Amino acid sequence: MLGSGKLSSLGTGTALLCFLSALITPAVAVKEHDFKKCDQSGFCKRNRAFADNALQSNSWQSPYNLLPETKSFKDGQLQATILKTINANGDAVKLPITVSFLESGTARVTIDEEKRQKGEIELRHDSKARKERYNEAEQWVIVGGLTLDKGAKVASEDKKQITVQYGPSSKFEAVIKFSPFSIDFKRDGASQIKFNDRGLLNMEHWRPKIEPKQEEKKEGDEGEEKKEEEQKVEAPKGEDESTWWEETFGSNTDSKPRGPESVALDIEFVGYEHVFGIPSHAGPLSLKQTRGGEGNYQEPYRMYNADVFEYILDSPMTLYGSIPFMQAHRKDSSVGVFWLNAAETWVDITKGKDSKNPLALGVLSKTTTTTHWISESGLLDVFVFLGPRPQDITSKYAELTGTSAMPQEFSIGYHQCRWNYVSDEDVKDVDRKMDKFKIPYDVIWLDIEYTDEKKYFTWDSHTFPDPVGMGKHLDAHGRKLVTIIDPHIKNVDNYHVSSELKSKDHAVHNKEGSIFEGWCWPGSSNWIDAFSPAAREWWASLFKYSAFKGTLENTWVWNDMNEPSVFNGPETTMPKDNLHHGGWEHRDVHNLNGMTFHNATHHALKSRKPGELRRPFVLTRAFFAGSQRVGAMWTGDNQAAWDHLEASIPMVLSQGIAGYPFSGADVGGFFGNPDKELLTRWYQAGAFYPFFRGHAHIDARRREPYLAGEPYTPIITAALRLRYALLPSWYTAFYQAHADGSPIIKPMFYTHPGEEGGLEIDDQFFVGNTGLLARPVTKEGQNSVDIWIPDDEVYYDYFTYNLIPTTKGKKVTLDAPLDKIPLLMQGGHIFARRDRPRRSSALMKWDDYTLVVAVSKDGKSAEGDLYVDDGDSFDFEKGQYIRRKFVMEGSTISSVDAEGRDTKGVKEGEWMKKMRGVSVDKIMVVGAPSSWANKKEVSVESEGKSWSVEVEYSPAAKGRAAFAVIKKVGARIGADWKIVA
Ligand code: GLC
Repeated sequence: MLGSGKLSSLGTGTALLCFLSALITPAVAVKEHDFKKCDQSGFCKRNRAFADNALQSNSWQSPYNLLPETKSFKDGQLQATILKTINANGDAVKLPITVSFLESGTARVTIDEEKRQKGEIELRHDSKARKERYNEAEQWVIVGGLTLDKGAKVASEDKKQITVQYGPSSKFEAVIKFSPFSIDFKRDGASQIKFNDRGLLNMEHWRPKIEPKQEEKKEGDEGEEKKEEEQKVEAPKGEDESTWWEETFGSNTDSKPRGPESVALDIEFVGYEHVFGIPSHAGPLSLKQTRGGEGNYQEPYRMYNADVFEYILDSPMTLYGSIPFMQAHRKDSSVGVFWLNAAETWVDITKGKDSKNPLALGVLSKTTTTTHWISESGLLDVFVFLGPRPQDITSKYAELTGTSAMPQEFSIGYHQCRWNYVSDEDVKDVDRKMDKFKIPYDVIWLDIEYTDEKKYFTWDSHTFPDPVGMGKHLDAHGRKLVTIIDPHIKNVDNYHVSSELKSKDHAVHNKEGSIFEGWCWPGSSNWIDAFSPAAREWWASLFKYSAFKGTLENTWVWNDMNEPSVFNGPETTMPKDNLHHGGWEHRDVHNLNGMTFHNATHHALKSRKPGELRRPFVLTRAFFAGSQRVGAMWTGDNQAAWDHLEASIPMVLSQGIAGYPFSGADVGGFFGNPDKELLTRWYQAGAFYPFFRGHAHIDARRREPYLAGEPYTPIITAALRLRYALLPSWYTAFYQAHADGSPIIKPMFYTHPGEEGGLEIDDQFFVGNTGLLARPVTKEGQNSVDIWIPDDEVYYDYFTYNLIPTTKGKKVTLDAPLDKIPLLMQGGHIFARRDRPRRSSALMKWDDYTLVVAVSKDGKSAEGDLYVDDGDSFDFEKGQYIRRKFVMEGSTISSVDAEGRDTKGVKEGEWMKKMRGVSVDKIMVVGAPSSWANKKEVSVESEGKSWSVEVEYSPAAKGRAAFAVIKKVGARIGADWKIVA
């Protein structure tokens, strides 16, 4: 069902129809039947049937054999040909395979199909599409890490198999069996990941269509007769051909000019009970089995970016974005795979006892997880990561696909959005009220109604007569404006964007090769084809300050509906036989589409004015592997319901472990009206999403934080202030993500990979390296929560400094009345805050810091770090940043450059110079040693000087830990210093 707000923007006829159906449909529920199930998606159904046939037969043998005589191995790369036998006569097709061993220790297996590669196929329906399997995903996704490992070597070889040793200290091995073809990836001699062990490899080869016999023929089929004679290859008996040549879903028929062309493979994680990743799905972090059985799903996890408004929970249904990256984990070991394919993809997951080889692992592994990956078209292209730590997997994956862009600092503050702020006066009014109630925020957002009839790059002149005045008003307190710009361009006369899109031929084409027309918010629309370099260049020109009038330097952008959403298209998206730049069918590139558009906008914002070098901020809804380099994402149209609040946490955690941590859910829930308790709890949770934005549907009642009233508004304000106070630590976590691909909020399996009890926990997390352990309340009326404790460190309550009575591996119950966010400090950490309440992050730029030391269980040690830069430009890439390491050892606390840089040697730009005036103000030492009890003063040494400052010690009392406050420290944040107590 279209949300009723979507109606208001449709043409009247459609709107009336939808309106009538809305009246008889329950208000809240995705129309599941608008989206395909596996058995409605021809290639998924065929491959599941293929698997059933293989797994149920005793005599099944995979028909894929690597020809030993074709193989060569050079400079870390093995090349060969696989023969796929396609019938009982022994006819076969050639599939070139490349196995690349990369310096990072990652292996890559790529399989193509010779006939399609050489273009020796015929397209049906006079299609203008390309003949090859889509081979450009790499160009969009991979940004590094492809250097071959020259040290990889053939360790042994015989008639049956070849073993290649590779990776760090040659500890990894790939045992490639020839007949049938399979690969066993080993670490330290033990199997970790197996390809085609169950024989489910399936590359549907090209074949001409066999037309029905003359008498069965329908009119109009004459032209195909010749092809029948040319037919050399028969379809294997018993295959379901019904969806090979065309496929109908709802009212749409997909023409499939290249026939069946799916790729599928079974990937077994030997001895691994848990698999994580393949976001976005609304379900638990540890993925469920998908072949039925109690508590399991019936359907495979699907990745086919779609506008699934009002999505359902605990489901493998596809959502708005896809990252085909999976991490498997068991106690003390992680491995992973990245399936580089941008077409519609399904993944079946089953778990079973590892009966074949129960002892081989040297650990008592009970369960093996087998996954079955199925994509509609494209190459088979898979990367294999052998760990062993979760960080090894995320960092190697980041080497390939890139890390999160360093964000604009404001963008990690709070964003106030709704569909819609109705006028520039409304925007200013909300801004004033936030100030009046002393509620910090950084950004206010404009949804589609700000435009002149949904024509992007224009303003509705009645409601937004003075966008410049509005922008300046916001800028007075360092605040920003985000305007929405979607990829569908209203198809009307007298709109220069539309006429240029068409005349310059920058739009996506339909299968006939003319400009594709469909329906979205503006009614009839065309879609920019951001795969085209020329289209992207044109797109960039539209964002210039001189072109998009009314925008200022504090205007940023929101890209929505970029799956793309096409209201009258199959599954609310584009027909698969549409054509993109380069002649690729939409089918091949669907999951990349959103990223190319997001990317185009990102680059556009970099060129708004010559010489302006600022980090762009662009939010996207659709995404793919690599989108993390471009900007933030959010989880789409959720609902104002407790279970949606609860589901948001595993969803955001899953984004983080799949390399795209700058994520969040609509706070308050998009559809519906949250009651005040839910809204309050959602703000408390949202304060821990990396991307923190309140948003609401056009029909939802206003819910800006100041409207909630007592006691809610002050409680929400406290959550927002907590976020703002901790911004230095959040920014440091973002820096870490940028540096090595780490998640920003981290699940237990990631931080404590050896603790089996934590592997499935997905309702609590650590923030960066701060040791802050949060467990937001997500249930109505809940007054306490259970937090699972991963280790035997000490834990302090963040707010009261109470020492929590914990036991490693056990849960501890914490009181959590409405005004309390369950938040613990793990001993052994130091993190930074800025405590002075301000209206926006920009106003905090030159504020002094507070350091919080949570002393370890040994009573005398802790460590932490801080990263700071100007939060806006790219000067950090030229050394303009401060990166400190804080260490407490016994009675000293010190700060040193975290990279051992001689900071004196760094030429200071304007920002660095100004930071000279920023100091450490206060240090809170929680769990302070009792030897400090009688101290009144401590000495500070820094930059060749020393001085004394006051310390106030409070002894432990009634469950509260002892703590000390070192006041007015006065050492520069960017300088080395040492405090001796
Ligand atoms: C989509 C977005 C939602 C937005 C609406 C109108 O439904 O997901 O966030 O408010 O479109 O632009």
